[in-house]
Amino acid sequence: MVRHLLDIDDLSPDELTTVLDRAAVIKAAHEAGESDRPLADQTLGMIFEKPSTRTRVSFETGMTQLGGHAVFLGPDDIHLGHGEPVKDTARALSRYVDAIMARLFDHADAEALAEYATVPVVNGLTDDAHPCQTLADLLTIREQFGFEDTTVAWVGDGNNVAQSFVVGAAMVGLDVVVATPEGYGIDDDVLDRAAEFGGAPQTTTDPEAAVADADIVYTDVFVSMGQEDERERKLDAFEGFQVTTELLGDRTLMHCLPAHRGEEVTDDSIESDTAIVWDQAENRLHAQKGLLVWLDEQS
Ligand code: CP
Ligand code: NVA
Repeated sequence: MVRHLLDIDDLSPDELTTVLDRAAVIKAAHEAGESDRPLADQTLGMIFEKPSTRTRVSFETGMTQLGGHAVFLGPDDIHLGHGEPVKDTARALSRYVDAIMARLFDHADAEALAEYATVPVVNGLTDDAHPCQTLADLLTIREQFGFEDTTVAWVGDGNNVAQSFVVGAAMVGLDVVVATPEGYGIDDDVLDRAAEFGGAPQTTTDPEAAVADADIVYTDVFVSMGQEDERERKLDAFEGFQVTTELLGDRTLMHCLPAHRGEEVTDDSIESDTAIVWDQAENRLHAQKGLLVWLDEQS
C-alpha cells in the first residue's frame, strides 16, 4: 500500500518514532561526512502554490544527498491552477516521479492528490497542516530536551503549524499549552485527534498563563500565506500575543520561520541565545530525509 503524509497522524506513534530515529541516524552519518544513496535514480516532484525557502531547499537538497533528484514545479510551471484538475496532475506525475511533495492552499487538494497518485504524497504545508515542520520540531525537541517532563507553550495563531504540532506532540507525550486570541484557536476536530493519543493541549487566551510552566515558547506568523487580506484584522486581534524577551524570560524560543519581526516576535527574541530556530530549520533537512527513506521502504 502506498503511504502518504498529509498530516502527522497519518503515521502511527510507533511509525513517528521510527521516522525520527531514522532521521537521527541519517543526520549523524551526514555530520560524520558519510554518504549513502538509498534513493539513487529516484525523483521527487515538488509542487508549490505558495512561496518557500526552507521546504523547497531542504527537500531538494535532501533528495540530492540521498542520491536522487527533485523537480521544482512552481505555480506558473505546470497546468495545475491553470485548468488541469488535481486528479489529472496526480495521475500524470505518478507516471514519472517516485514521490510527490506539495505545498498547496486547500488541504482538500492535498487529499485529492493522494487519492489519485500512485506514489507517496507528502504535505509540504496546506492551510490546515504542516506535518514536515512537526517532524523537524519533534526531532529538535527530542535532541535538546527529550519529550518527558517538557512543556511547550504555543503563543499565537492556532494555524497549520500549530495544528500539526499539537497532534504530533500528543503522539510523543509532550505537554502543550496553547494561547490564542478568541476565535483563532486550534480547530475542535484537531483537539479531538490529539486527545485520541491521550494528550489534548490545555487552551487559554492568556499568553502569560500559557508560558508560566513552559520550557519552550513556540510561535508562528500572525498573517499566514494567503491571509494577506485579513492582515489588519488579524494584527488587531493578536495584540498582546507578541513573543517579547519579557514574555520569553529564560525559556527557549521556537519558530517555524519565516519570522515577521515586530509582529509575532521581536527581533531581540529571535536573536537571543535562547532561540533554537536555526536548529529547527536545519532539522527540516534531516527529518525529511528520514521520512523519504521510510516512505520508500513502505512501497
Ligand atoms: N517553515 C517553513 O515551512 O518555511 P518555508 O515557508 O520557508 O518553507
Ligand atoms: N503559518 C505560516 C507557516 C509558514 C511556514 C503560513 O502558512 O504562512
